[in-house]
Amino acid sequence: MIRRRSFLVLTVLSAAAALSAGACRQPAQELALARDAMASGSGMVVSAYPEASRAGAEVLRAGGNAVDAAIATGFALAVTHPAAGNIGGGGFMVIRFPDGSATALDFREKAPLRAHPEMFLDEDGEYSYQIHHRSHLAVGVPGTVAGFALAHEKYGTAEWSDLVEPSVGLARDGFVVSERLARSLAGRLEAFRSYPASFAQFSKDGEPYAAGETLVQADLAGTLARIRDEGRDGFYKGTTARLVAEEMERGGGWITEEDMARYEAREREPVRGSYRGYEVISMPPPSSGGTALVQMLNVLEGFDVAAMGAGSPEYAHHLIEAMRRAFRDRAMFLADPDFEDIPVARLTSKEYADEIRATIEAGAASASSTTDVTAPAEWESSETTHYSVVDAEGMAVSVTYTLEGGYGSYITVPGAGFLLNNEMGDFNGRPGLTSENGLIGTQANLARPEKRMLSSMTPTIVARDGELVAVIGSPGGRTIINTVLQLVVNLVDFGGDPASVVAAKRLHHQWLPNAVRMEEGFMSEADAALLGAMGHEVGWGRGQGIAHCIFVDSATGELVGVPDPRDSDGAAAGY
Ligand code: DON
Repeated sequence: MIRRRSFLVLTVLSAAAALSAGACRQPAQELALARDAMASGSGMVVSAYPEASRAGAEVLRAGGNAVDAAIATGFALAVTHPAAGNIGGGGFMVIRFPDGSATALDFREKAPLRAHPEMFLDEDGEYSYQIHHRSHLAVGVPGTVAGFALAHEKYGTAEWSDLVEPSVGLARDGFVVSERLARSLAGRLEAFRSYPASFAQFSKDGEPYAAGETLVQADLAGTLARIRDEGRDGFYKGTTARLVAEEMERGGGWITEEDMARYEAREREPVRGSYRGYEVISMPPPSSGGTALVQMLNVLEGFDVAAMGAGSPEYAHHLIEAMRRAFRDRAMFLADPDFEDIPVARLTSKEYADEIRATIEAGAASASSTTDVTAPAEWESSETTHYSVVDAEGMAVSVTYTLEGGYGSYITVPGAGFLLNNEMGDFNGRPGLTSENGLIGTQANLARPEKRMLSSMTPTIVARDGELVAVIGSPGGRTIINTVLQLVVNLVDFGGDPASVVAAKRLHHQWLPNAVRMEEGFMSEADAALLGAMGHEVGWGRGQGIAHCIFVDSATGELVGVPDPRDSDGAAAGY
């Protein structure tokens, strides 16, 4: 039971959670859990693992608000979804209050004090992917615990310890490994071998966990208990910080106890935009997400997207051309706003969108010029996680957080039981390195002491006429922004029920490489040929994004939780 600070406690009847296979409606007060779209009258959490959704929904049902629930869900995901749920990484939280005001919390990782722009070069002065993405130098100072502590301090109503406790239990007593998690852990077993603490934590004496077995993480339980009892100091000071610093020293990393102690999360003004009368509230820099999202929506607003039709070559063409331009601007301008001046107002203005639109030719692809800068070529996986929360008062919370790659750096802090991120890989790798398929070398996003690396995470909230419409977001590196863009367009232009808004196939283009990747089924082969004839380099790819979203049914006012069908572990929990 949640003890509300300064509120009288209402006891709530406990109820067994039921896992359902189809859309369903549950009576008030009874907690329901579903893999598919689920309607609910009061409060809802949709996340990447059932126990995490349940932890958040239990908080809601016991009287906590959406921020409280988001904190409990986030800590629970750090146990049950080790590929991306985390305390050793960072992320963003966008909050919309029932009165329509909004705020954004930035708990992105920071570079350690010793960081500098050439830190990813090897002894010969050559750029090293290994150092940049797969070493102790790839680890940024984690932000998640500070972010949750700031969220709680400013907007939480429940007792902090009650929000951390469910995760302590899940780590200490274990949870049942799903088929997807078993496959995922087995796939990383060899990578974990280089880090004995990871190998020990995520295998049974070297044997992979099978689905249905229980994964216990005793060291993680200890760290979470310190966080439960001491708040952020339980992570950034004392035992945990010392263990992080010791592992850094052992592996040649630069994060010290001082770096840990100095970490601060930041509250920022959200990026706001409008799209055909809908209000869009999203994450500002150091994420590029909200800015690029609003920029692309502004461009598309001037085209009759609904008339073009979902999946038509004409729609895909205009979508791609908007993406091409926004990703070029992202590469040139976006970075940590504490270090760089970023023209967010200009990039998100309707006037700028008019200028961009004038450069888009119907039926003919434009070029992605490499003369200014180039962007990293590799496509990104979905190893980040997004979750959505709405409480009974209509407070909405959209959280995307990450370790960067799946299981981050693969480094589990010995004795502390949590994985460290490899987020430093989101800084530009080398000043001036701008090859066609290489990295961006622009100065805005170079590593500097205590700087935050540029992100694409796009936790977003949509409203209309002062009413909440949807809480959306996704993992997927740079594809995140385009996934969220298409969620908004599907919702506004193509209509349909919430489940089909999420299930609809997506496409991705990120300026460079100059290639379109579509989920199978986005359009027919014949239409893809027509798109190709316009000059687009069309390819098919695997699933894009995992958008665990909540929508408000405008007719009934009910919440509709939609776990993305691309993720077999996603679950909605509501009451
Ligand atoms: O912050 C970002 O944009 C990335 N580090 C997110 C990574 C992600 O979604 C997984 N893909 N690599």
